[in-house]
Amino acid sequence: MSEQPDIVIDVQDLVKTYDEGRTRALDGANFQVRRGEFVSITGPSGCGKSTLLHAIAALERPDSGTIRVNGEEITAKRDLSSYRAQGIGLIFQLHNLLPNLTASENVQVPMYETKRSTGARRERAEELLRLVGLGDKVKKRPTQLSGGERQRVAIARALANDPPIILADEPTGSLDSKASQQALDLLRDVQRGQAVTLVLVSHDSRIAAAADRTVYMLDGKIDAESTDRSPEVETDAAASRSSPVV
Ligand SMILES: Nc1ncnc2c1ncn2[C@@H]1O[C@H](COP(=O)(O)OP(=O)(O)O)[C@@H](O)[C@H]1O
Ligand SMILES: [Mg+2]
Repeated sequence: MSEQPDIVIDVQDLVKTYDEGRTRALDGANFQVRRGEFVSITGPSGCGKSTLLHAIAALERPDSGTIRVNGEEITAKRDLSSYRAQGIGLIFQLHNLLPNLTASENVQVPMYETKRSTGARRERAEELLRLVGLGDKVKKRPTQLSGGERQRVAIARALANDPPIILADEPTGSLDSKASQQALDLLRDVQRGQAVTLVLVSHDSRIAAAADRTVYMLDGKIDAESTDRSPEVETDAAASRSSPVV
């Protein structure tokens, strides 16, 4: 599987245990993602979704198994900081914006790992905030923004270094249904428009159904998969695509 050039993420037999082996969060998970694909991972609470995403993001080290990203085994890499800063964009449910920074400054945080000048960082942050429809809120702090707006700042921040892969863990989990749909439409527009690979985790099967492909996890393993998209979600997305991203 890893020999196929269009496989960008290739997870083989991944095992991750906690509590001295008593909890098997991942129990031999196998998972592949093609370049440019939008895949969702769903399943009941505690089935290992976040652990799998964190392992791909190199935030957790697995006990055994392999994770190849673009053919390179990340668990074997000695220095993962550039992979984390430039290889992937991360979006979490609790968007972890820094409360004392403005929207623009929050979006600039991942760019400190790069060689961009101060002016270039600010320009890029403002461009991304315009992309997510917050061009008029660049100087606002998180407390001055709604939940949906904060999540859009987090999406802009994930895009800061043009990562080829975006990993989103319950990105709509703290939002109401309208804001959830907007965040989902935005993520999908970004995935299509910027040709990024998007892996989205959601325990909510309706959110997961927006993806091109959905994989189901159970007890630390991939249990099944489907490529049936929800017609309702697809209709909303089609409607939103006819207008520019705002
Ligand atoms: N840091 C941790 N320490 C101990 N157990 C953990 C830790 N993180 C996750 N787990 C356990 O691993 C299992 C999978 O968790 P998780 O990947 O967070 O599930 P999901 O995201 O699907 O709800 C659960 O039983 C959870 O309690
Ligand atoms: Mg989780």
